Amino acid sequence: MKKNLVILFGALAVFFGAYSGLTIYDTYFKYGRMWQTPAVRPHETPLLVMEPGVVPVSGGEAHYRAAASLALQSPFDSRSPETIAQGQTLYFTYCQQCHGARHDGQGTVGQSFAPLPPDLRSARVQAISDGVMFKEISFGVDRPGARQPALATTIFPDDRWKIVHYVKSLGVR
Ligand code: HEC
Repeated sequence: MKKNLVILFGALAVFFGAYSGLTIYDTYFKYGRMWQTPAVRPHETPLLVMEPGVVPVSGGEAHYRAAASLALQSPFDSRSPETIAQGQTLYFTYCQQCHGARHDGQGTVGQSFAPLPPDLRSARVQAISDGVMFKEISFGVDRPGARQPALATTIFPDDRWKIVHYVKSLGVR
C-alpha cells in the first residue's frame, strides 16, 4: 500500500516537474519551439498610405450602368476596318459559343438556353442601337426572362464596343 503511494507521488512529481520545466522554457527562453514563429499583432504596423490615383473616383462600370443607352458613346469609329477586325476576333472569343460561327444563334452552348440566342443578323437585332447593345452585353437584356449573360466583368469596355461595331457591321442577312 505504502509502496503504491510512493510510486503515485513519484509519478506526479515527475509529471509536474516536466510540465513546469517546459512552461518555464517556453516562457523565458527565446529559442526553440514557438518563439521562432513571427507573432502577428493587430494594429502593430502603421496603415499603408495609399498613393494618389489608386482608387478610381470617376468613370468605371457604374457609370455605364447608370447612363442612358443613348448617352453612351463609343470611343471608336464604328466603320474603321481595324476596329471591326478586332471586334471579329473578340466575337469569336466571347460570343461564338452561343451565337454561332455564322452569327445565326446556332452556337453549341447557346442551344441549352431558353429563349435561344437570336440570329444576330436578323432585322430586329440589327436595329438595336449601339448603346443599347453595349448595355445588353454588359449587363444583360432588360426584359423578364431574358437570358443574355451580363459580360461586364468578363470583357473590357473598349472590347465590348469593338464587338458591337463588328456585329452591326454584319448587316441584315
Ligand atoms: C452563354 C451564352 C451567350 C453568350 C456567351 C452570349 N450570348 Fe448573346 N444571347 C444569348 C441568349 C440566350 C440570348 C437570348 C436572350 C433573350 O432573348 O432573352 C442572347 C441575346 C443576344 C442579343 C439580342 C438581345 C435582344 O435585345 O434581344 C444580342 C444583341 C446578343 N445576345 C449579343 C451577344 C454578343 C455580342 C455576345 C458576345 C459579347 C453575346 N451575345 C454572348 C446567349 C449568349
